[in-house]
Amino acid sequence: MSISVQSLLLSLLLSFALTTFAETHNYAFTVQEQAANRLCKNHRIVNVNGQFPGPTLDVQNGDSVAIKVTNASPYNLTIHWHGLRQLRNPWADGPAFVTQCPIRPGGSYTYKFTIQDQEGTLWWHAHSRWLRATVYGALVIRPKSGSSYPFPTPKVEFPVILGEWWDRKVISVLRQALFTGAAPNISDAITINGQPGDLFRCSSQGTTKLTVNKGDTVLLRVINAALNQQLFFSVANHKLTVVATDAIYTKQFTTNVIMVGPGQTTDVLLTADQQPGRYYMAARAYATAQNAPFDNTTATAILEYKSATTQPILPQLPFYNDTNTVTAFSNQIKSPGKVTVPTKIDENLFFTMGFGFFNCTPGPRCQGPNNTRFGASMNNVSFVLPNRVSLLQAYTQKIPNVYTPDFPPVPPLQFDYTGNVPRGLWQPVKGTRLYKLKFGSSVQIVLQDTSIFSTEDHPVHLHGYHFYIVGQGFGNFNPSRDTANFNLVDPPQRNTIDVPVGGWAAIRFVADNPGVWLMHCHIDTHLAWGFAMAFIVENGVGESETLLPPPSDLPKC
Ligand code: C2O
Repeated sequence: MSISVQSLLLSLLLSFALTTFAETHNYAFTVQEQAANRLCKNHRIVNVNGQFPGPTLDVQNGDSVAIKVTNASPYNLTIHWHGLRQLRNPWADGPAFVTQCPIRPGGSYTYKFTIQDQEGTLWWHAHSRWLRATVYGALVIRPKSGSSYPFPTPKVEFPVILGEWWDRKVISVLRQALFTGAAPNISDAITINGQPGDLFRCSSQGTTKLTVNKGDTVLLRVINAALNQQLFFSVANHKLTVVATDAIYTKQFTTNVIMVGPGQTTDVLLTADQQPGRYYMAARAYATAQNAPFDNTTATAILEYKSATTQPILPQLPFYNDTNTVTAFSNQIKSPGKVTVPTKIDENLFFTMGFGFFNCTPGPRCQGPNNTRFGASMNNVSFVLPNRVSLLQAYTQKIPNVYTPDFPPVPPLQFDYTGNVPRGLWQPVKGTRLYKLKFGSSVQIVLQDTSIFSTEDHPVHLHGYHFYIVGQGFGNFNPSRDTANFNLVDPPQRNTIDVPVGGWAAIRFVADNPGVWLMHCHIDTHLAWGFAMAFIVENGVGESETLLPPPSDLPKC
């Protein structure tokens, strides 16, 4: 047999092997309202298949997934697969009125996608108003058969999903805030895997427990599913080795505490090398806004060595506004080695982001500070979602008067963003404005916090992509000073960046995924106030650079 025939056979065999190993997983999600008991109270929450947190999707890189979502709840809803790139396939992305109309009560929609070159921890959540408060779960992507983690395979793997619990229906909390214009009520408890833990009334019975043998190495997949709160997470007496963030491997480093912003995930290894006993894992707020109330409770779960019965000890968590600890932590997150960062930038964008206020006539609907209603904006545009059709449908079907493709690449006005901003600049303008990107263009976005009302760290999430974080800093971004310090060698890659409080972050990506992709603050209060914008990434050349057609069961508006 000649060499070429041999290699042909070999490659045929290989592709056969690959196709047989890639599986198709079918899941059925029934979303419904059910009674739940927490903090000595009973009320109804929306969940999936009667589980809270919802079912974990456990798949392999390369697999195809089909999830039939049946809406048996009284609310319109969608599900988003947070961090999945959804190449050419925004139809399965999920944000309501961005890529699809919501699934009506009684309706259903099957999300179909293939996982391409991603592995690690992602998650899924409702993407319609505040339903994600209780509609979420883990999405675990394992390496392809035959490949493995870039660390010894841990004995135990455990998702740690951090959340927030309200004693009331979350939809009423949101409705009330959107009526009055004031800030919504803060949550009543932080939770770990849906449970507040031992420090809360009527909660010890349900406290999440993880049992280990002495010597075991454990992979904790920490997901921040909280609606509105950045969280510190720590385990008493145990060091954590960070190995991945947002389903992308990192250079490994060891720490006592991690900070996870809403939307982000962090994979850590822990070795049970302490005195056999019981140790608390704990999560508590990292809160930076000035004079803003926040949920200052502590959620706990128990790491227990087999047959230990001792009273668990609590870890030392940083103080609520300990930005130094956060900066030191996030500066350590890097790609494992040299990566290819776009260097020739086609689109150099600068987005201010933060709060804003709409003046109003004093009354029940004008309960924000000094006769205003709260808002938020990027480049002074307070984003308004359409309500008749999705942006993706409007774009692909050329439906007029749904959006304008004129989102500003720079703020309409330059000012001292993090200084004392004059009141005259506090009022944003409402709009549904999108920014068009040519297929394949290299994009840099500098995200700049403002001190309008208060500075705050904002977890900004981009759908359909992950991006390199080439720089971060405090104060106003200064191109001549800061660009020179960009890390173009081993910057981390993420899908959600927690932009430093009163500071900026510079991100880069290549616009190689056509579609309509939302970028927004993953604090749902801010999102509801208009802290969002969307990109249209145009088709490139040929089928492999062109949007897939819409599925036939895409919900009707
Ligand atoms: Cu985790 Cu727009 O979402």
